[in-house]
Amino acid sequence: MSRYVVTGAAGFIGSHLAERLIAQGHDVRSLDCFTDYYDPALKRENAADLDVLELDLAAADVDLTDVDCVFHLAGQPGTRSFGPIFADYLRRNTLATQRLFEQAAGAGVKVVYASSSSVYGDAETYPTSEATIPRPNSPYGITKLACEHLAGAYARSFGLDAVGLRYFTVYGPRQRPDMAFTRIVSALAIGEPFELFGDGGQSRSFTFVADVVDATIAAAGAEPGSLYNVAGGAEATMRAAIELAEEISARQLDLRTGPPAQGDIRRTKADTTAIERDLGWHATTSLEDGLRAQWEWAIARVAAL
Ligand SMILES: NC(=O)c1ccc[n+]([C@@H]2O[C@H](COP(=O)([O-])OP(=O)(O)OC[C@H]3O[C@@H](n4cnc5c(N)ncnc54)[C@H](O)[C@@H]3O)[C@@H](O)[C@H]2O)c1
Repeated sequence: MSRYVVTGAAGFIGSHLAERLIAQGHDVRSLDCFTDYYDPALKRENAADLDVLELDLAAADVDLTDVDCVFHLAGQPGTRSFGPIFADYLRRNTLATQRLFEQAAGAGVKVVYASSSSVYGDAETYPTSEATIPRPNSPYGITKLACEHLAGAYARSFGLDAVGLRYFTVYGPRQRPDMAFTRIVSALAIGEPFELFGDGGQSRSFTFVADVVDATIAAAGAEPGSLYNVAGGAEATMRAAIELAEEISARQLDLRTGPPAQGDIRRTKADTTAIERDLGWHATTSLEDGLRAQWEWAIARVAAL
């Protein structure tokens, strides 16, 4: 049994991770400050089976006594980060992470932290490897890139053992309400219109949340300073994903189109050679199976209302 801290444990990915670690018999300290980026009631729902300590990493310290590893998933996600909301990104990503790295370095505790495919922006090459020069399109991506550089600075100056994971568009049950798949399956379940940002030709390396949890746990055994892409195998356009969701649900989506979201990326396609080679991880869930799981979650929630 190991002792772990999971930050952002009431969030989408963090709640799945904390549940899995507990199921594996580990001692897990879950923490989250329940920001209002989306309805905190949804976070309470995510954390229904967890004992979550309410703590704001940007303001308070974490008890790292006898902790083997911190899984740092707390943060302010979403690429719509231009304008005044940027202050939240700075505080919840950059400042919160800097404070955590400071404490972990002092306590000699390893940190596995969530970075993002958003650091690449419109990448120079596809599939995109970790060696590609990051060029974020969004202020969000810039704060995540800053966290990676903070990990490097704390490693060089204070010996911090940190492993960064660049997650690529994670989906599945509990996906955040601002993300496309949740908006699609909810629209299908309730029979409401869905607004597609852009022409639907934008594509992603969609990654199922259980696969992301596997990769994140595997990263606790990675070499200090490692940085990996975490991405599903198949790339799909938004149009293709919508068609698949319609097929799975046997319903027709009331599709409306709007302008592309500022800061959004046209394409992501990850090269996952490094994580496969070093940690033996690769995504195993097909888009069809993963989307079906998310549809079933959405329909069950609607039925329970
Ligand atoms: N979901 C994705 O597709 C995706 C892709 C790339 C990277 N990421 C990163 O993965 C992590 C988890 O993403 P998610 O989709 O589960 O987001 P989420 O918003 O559902 O979860 C993040 C949680 O962190 C908490 N939090 C924010 N600031 C905090 C602070 N200062 N102290 C304590 N808790 C705080 C929030 O309340 C929230 O519950 C984030 O760091 C995000 O940037 C997510």
